[in-house]
Amino acid sequence: MGSQLYGLLSDLGYHHPLHPALAHLPVGLTIASFIFIVLALLLKNSSLYSTSKHCLLLALLAVIPTIFTGYLDWQHFYGGALILPIKMKIGLAAALALFLLIASLTGKRDGSATVPGLMIRFLCLLLVTGLGYFGGEIVYGKGSTTAAQKEGLNNEYIMAGAKLFQANCALCHLTDSSDTKIGPGLKGLFLQKQMPVSGWPVNEQSVERQLKTPFAQMPPFAKLSNEEVAALTEYLKSL
Ligand code: HEC
Repeated sequence: MGSQLYGLLSDLGYHHPLHPALAHLPVGLTIASFIFIVLALLLKNSSLYSTSKHCLLLALLAVIPTIFTGYLDWQHFYGGALILPIKMKIGLAAALALFLLIASLTGKRDGSATVPGLMIRFLCLLLVTGLGYFGGEIVYGKGSTTAAQKEGLNNEYIMAGAKLFQANCALCHLTDSSDTKIGPGLKGLFLQKQMPVSGWPVNEQSVERQLKTPFAQMPPFAKLSNEEVAALTEYLKSL
């Protein structure tokens, strides 16, 4: 379904991911909701509080397509590779949706702002900041520390592997299950002890061997460079 959508957009001349464009909506509305409740408390003004509630409700609505396009982009542009910033984004997005929901359902009916209402909006603000930060990590892959830089480099490697996989392997292998398509599904391969068909031990050497001199019916991929094999292996490890 995702590939049809991106194909259509690409025909229309749009080649970018969808999520970053949409993400501004819930982020902006969450910030606005926080600012308006602060003003409502300071000025004891109930219509400012109504505005805060309306912004919060719109943020909650906007979070739904934002998460959905995030999922589609992740599958389409990053081959569903479960790298650390993606894991963080999934966790933070779930927490944000939950807290926005709680904040929308609670709060006084009589229209006055409360300190707990302020706190929960502040929490949502922290969550959107975190989401923005890890979004940046995915796109730019650089952090200020060497550990983060290493992680960023590794992410680039995994993404290169994901692209190679889409181009060369996806025809025969699923990455989101271990069901057989033409070859075995490769989800969680590196969590197993043995390769699914040959029974070889799961490690870098066995993957390389499978690509250069496959066990049985898989076509060989001798043309792949060592670097490409390593990137593919990193990608398989992330599944
Ligand atoms: C034309 C279909 C096809 C393509 C394309 C393909 N495979 Fe396979 N793959 C198979 C089959 C069939 C098997 C089962 C083992 C065999 O026949 O060698 C397999 C098995 C595997 C295994 C498990 C091997 C084992 O020992 O159990 C891995 C890992 C693997 N493939 C990775 C890849 C990667 C990475 C690519 C892309 C570079 C790829 N495959 C491309 C068909 C394919």
